[in-house]
Amino acid sequence: MSNNPEVRLILVGPPGAGKGTQAKRLVDTLQIPHISTGDMLRAAREAGTELGRKAGELMDRGELVPDDVVIGLVMERIAEPDAKRGFMLDGFPRTRPQAEALDAALEAAAVELDGVVLIEVEDAKIERRITGRRSDAVTGDIYHMEFDPPPDGVDVVQRPDDTVEAVRARLAKYHASTAPIIPYYDAQGLLRRVNGDQSPDAVTHEIMVALERA
Ligand code: AP5
Repeated sequence: MSNNPEVRLILVGPPGAGKGTQAKRLVDTLQIPHISTGDMLRAAREAGTELGRKAGELMDRGELVPDDVVIGLVMERIAEPDAKRGFMLDGFPRTRPQAEALDAALEAAAVELDGVVLIEVEDAKIERRITGRRSDAVTGDIYHMEFDPPPDGVDVVQRPDDTVEAVRARLAKYHASTAPIIPYYDAQGLLRRVNGDQSPDAVTHEIMVALERA
């Protein structure tokens, strides 16, 4: 897989499953851009744009940002030169309309997805993962206060949507709106299920094995 110059992958899973953690590791190996809609929306908020302000309010409540907004962002991003030979989508698609929009764009570009990796973690483990998450204020590197504490001296921040209330709302949204894309990709023979409830190294290994088999 690592020798394949064109790789188009999707990472899907509940909040806190480890999509961001795994994406950072995999893009180094696969040499493709990491396209995270959550990161793009947070960057728009930091930049103070109208879109970022509106998206930020929804994100903090654990709601989804409207499909047309997110689809527009991703379509622009995957049309950029660095994504021509592949990408790793993290957090997109998150609804059936988003999945269909992506399919249409890929078909128009005459390219195909190579796999959809579903990182599975049961709901009962999610709250602890999310509320313990912190990220490096400068590099964005992800830590966990219990499972992977930041090194001394690193300035860490907590996401505003990492509260217990917002996590519960995000989990409910995941089951209602995102879970339906799982059978959609399974029917296309693209779905690879990976156990996210093991060490990050073991998860990376399982993903690479699943992709080698694809
Ligand atoms: P987004 O940023 O995509 O958030 P999410 O899907 O809720 O996922 P997270 O980033 O919370 O979790 P993750 O799976 O990346 O876990 P991580 O690796 O950090 O989206 C945020 C919001 O933006 C959405 O709620 C929505 O409002 C909006 N949005 C984004 N995309 C959208 C779209 N397409 N449509 C509409 N709205 C959209 O790990 C979590 C923690 O666990 C960390 O502390 C980590 O250190 C730890 N950890 C990771 N792996 C392990 C492991 N194996 N064992 C123990 N701990 C681990």
